[in-house]
Amino acid sequence: MTDSNFLTREKIQALESTATAMVAKGKGILAADESSPTIKKRFDTIKVESTEENRRFYRELLFTAPEIENHISGVILFEETLRQSAGDGTPFPKLLSDRGIIPGIKVDKGLALIPETRNEKITQGLDGLAARLDEYRELGARFAKWRAVLSIGDHQPSKLCIALNAHALARYSALSQRAGLVPIVEPEILINGTHDIEACERVTQRTMALLFNELLLQRVVLEGMILKPSMVTPGDACPDRADVETVARKTIKIFKRSVPAAVPGIAFLSGGQTSQQATANLNAMNQIGPAPWELSFSYGRALQEQPLGVWEGKPENRATAQAMLLTRAKCNGAARFGSYTPDMEPHWDMG
Ligand code: 13P
Repeated sequence: MTDSNFLTREKIQALESTATAMVAKGKGILAADESSPTIKKRFDTIKVESTEENRRFYRELLFTAPEIENHISGVILFEETLRQSAGDGTPFPKLLSDRGIIPGIKVDKGLALIPETRNEKITQGLDGLAARLDEYRELGARFAKWRAVLSIGDHQPSKLCIALNAHALARYSALSQRAGLVPIVEPEILINGTHDIEACERVTQRTMALLFNELLLQRVVLEGMILKPSMVTPGDACPDRADVETVARKTIKIFKRSVPAAVPGIAFLSGGQTSQQATANLNAMNQIGPAPWELSFSYGRALQEQPLGVWEGKPENRATAQAMLLTRAKCNGAARFGSYTPDMEPHWDMG
C-alpha cells in the first residue's frame, strides 16, 4: 500500500472547507437531482412531457433565478444535468460556480430489494463508483449525494436493512472523500405510515447509531461530510399529529444523542412535508438555541413544488416561477436564523 491511499492534509482541508461552505449561515442546498422516473412524476402533475429539452429548460430556469445565490449554497444535480448546458452554451456546473453556488451530484443508482425481508431496500451503485466519482469531479462537481431509504412498520426497519444501508453509505462516503467530493449522507426514514412520533424517534436513533459506527469504522472524515436526514415526525397517516415545537424538540434531542459534533452540518430533506411545514420546522429548530452543528436544509419538493406549479411548462411563466423559488429560498434562509415568519409568504399563497 502506498501513501497515495491516504487522504493528504490538503485534501482533508479542501473537504472541510467545501462542507463548511455548503452549510454557510443563512443558506441551504437545492436538491434538483430527481432521477428520470421521478422528474417525470413531477412533470406529470403539471402535464408537461418529460423530454430531455424540457428537463434542461426547467433546470436552467431554477439555476438562473435571480438572487438565489444569497440563500442557496449548493445544488444537487442528476447526472444528465451535470452534462447539460444553459441556452447560451455555459455548462450547468460552470454556470452555478460562477454564481458562487457549489455544484454536486447524486451518485447512487436507486433501490433494490433485500432478500428475505418484507420489501426492504438497499441502495445500489457501489460497483464502478470510484471511476465515476473521478469523472464527476472533472465535470465540476464538488460534493456527492447517496440516499438510503428505510420504512417504519411492523418490526421494520430490520437491523439487516439498517446495517446494509449504513455500510453502503459509509463505503460511498469514503470513496467520495478520496475523490475530493464531500459526501452528503442521506438516510431517509420515510414519512409514510401510521407510526407515531415516538416510533420515529426510536428508529432514527437506532439508524444513526449504526450509521456513525460504520462511518468511523470506514475512516470517513466526519468534518468533511454533511448529514441529510429526515426530521423526527409522526407518520403521515398517524392520527396523533405533532406541533412544530414538538417536532423541533424531538429532532434535536435525537440528533444530539447520536450525531458527533465533528459533523459540520445537518441539512434536512423535506420528505413530503408541505413547503411551509418544512420551513416552519427548520425555523423552530434554529430557535431552540445553539446546537453542535449547523441546522440547514437540502430540500427538493419543499423548494420546487411552488415554482413548478407556477411554471406549468409555459415560457411566459418563467420569471414568476423564478420569483417563487427565490421566495422559498428566502424563507428557508431566514429559518436558518430562526427568524422566519408566515408573513414572509406571498399573500396569494396563504390560503
Ligand atoms: P425532498 O426534500 O423532496 O424529500 O427531496 C430531497 C432529496 O434530495 C431526496 O433524495
